[in-house]
Amino acid sequence: MSANTRDSFTSKFGVIAAAAGSAVGLGNIWKFPYEAGQNGGGAFLVIYFFFIITIGLPIMISEFVIGRKTNANAVRAFKKMSPRTPWYFTGVMGVAASFMILSFYGVVAGWTLEYIYMSVTNAFKGQSPEDLSNVFNAFLANPVRPVMWQVLFMILTGIVVIGGIKNGIEKLTKILMPVLLLIIVVMGIRSITLGANVNEAGEVIGHSFDGLKFLFKPDFSKVDINVVLDALGQAFFSLSLGMGTIITYGSYVRKNNNLNKTAVEVAFLDTLIAVLAGVAIFPAVFYFGVAPSEGPGLVFTILPGIFQKMVGGYIWTLAFFTLLAVAALTSSISLLEVAVAYFVEELKMKRVKATIITGSIITVLGVACSLSNNVLKEFTIFGRNIFNSMEFVSSNVLLPLGGMLIAIFVGWFVKRSDFYAELSNENTFKLKFFNAFYAIIKFVAPVAIAIVFLYSVGLLK
Ligand code: PFF
Repeated sequence: MSANTRDSFTSKFGVIAAAAGSAVGLGNIWKFPYEAGQNGGGAFLVIYFFFIITIGLPIMISEFVIGRKTNANAVRAFKKMSPRTPWYFTGVMGVAASFMILSFYGVVAGWTLEYIYMSVTNAFKGQSPEDLSNVFNAFLANPVRPVMWQVLFMILTGIVVIGGIKNGIEKLTKILMPVLLLIIVVMGIRSITLGANVNEAGEVIGHSFDGLKFLFKPDFSKVDINVVLDALGQAFFSLSLGMGTIITYGSYVRKNNNLNKTAVEVAFLDTLIAVLAGVAIFPAVFYFGVAPSEGPGLVFTILPGIFQKMVGGYIWTLAFFTLLAVAALTSSISLLEVAVAYFVEELKMKRVKATIITGSIITVLGVACSLSNNVLKEFTIFGRNIFNSMEFVSSNVLLPLGGMLIAIFVGWFVKRSDFYAELSNENTFKLKFFNAFYAIIKFVAPVAIAIVFLYSVGLLK
């Protein structure tokens, strides 16, 4: 397919909005807080920052360059840059990861739809944190309801993906991302100012400031290799890296876009929103006296509690869960787009057919993930239920592995001058930090990821 028959993003802000739309999602607002909560807070945050800057950002730039240079889907991109080699397998792995991630992602996105419904019916009103936790657990234990919402969410995702890049993805993200940012800031302020929670007997249940301490004061004594692996996986997951999403989006970026700047802006925005989500959640967690390590239900039980304490709580709750669903949608369309672009361009399928086929397979996998919270609870693989296995294998194994392969590919198999030319828009501007970037891609990123892997499977001690 030639470059000019492919869809492309129309404006600079459109690129940033779409890539940020992919990056910002449940990963920031649902996954980051619960991972941080389970992994000790501040120390996790420091390691996470470290990985975003030293590994995430350079790999994001690499993916953008590969995508724009080749103008192709994640598999074809490798075939074009390195013909007749097995490198395209990196792209195939990415397509597999997109199936796995979207299967559980669609489930959690479905939860946000249930929470929109509950917001509309004002179901949270007057509920204590304990009630809210029971509400969430009862919902998860129901085999039918979460599946219903998940299927609905997948249909929505499919509709936007069929609409194509310009009409669907770009328009939606441009308007709604800034609003989401604003709401999270307001929630953060409310959460921090909750202060001390004193019960009728005069006992202090908790203080919101302890939440800030938890998030920003690193306690490295709790850090082990699993915390490091979680932080690495979370960095990849949150930035949508390691599976060709950014390669695919890069292929829709125009030649005059400064990819460096775009990558820095996207990574900054993504990290900012994750931290702000943490700032909104942890002070309230401590105020309510809930355990920060509560797990995947954390935001669903805590956030409605914060809104109860706000003037106009009804509207805030509704607006927040609606925007969270939209943020999930702009990420899920990027996940589905990886699979669809592959089916359309490699398997020569029509876009509609490709979307229906891939979307249906993912939905079925998702139903299994959803049921693993109730009827299939006992069914485990290496001690993890289906949902957790999908999450672990995709974020902690496939994405870092994909990222490592991309770094090795760019560092050792792509001509340095070719890469430089694409990144500098054919030398129309100078790249100040190129040497540092190159050293990271060639040596630091692959070695660091390999070390984390070898430690975590016990081959290094
Ligand atoms: N980055 C998205 C989030 O944080 O919610 C999730 C995601 C989207 C992961 C696309 C991977 C991906 F390719």
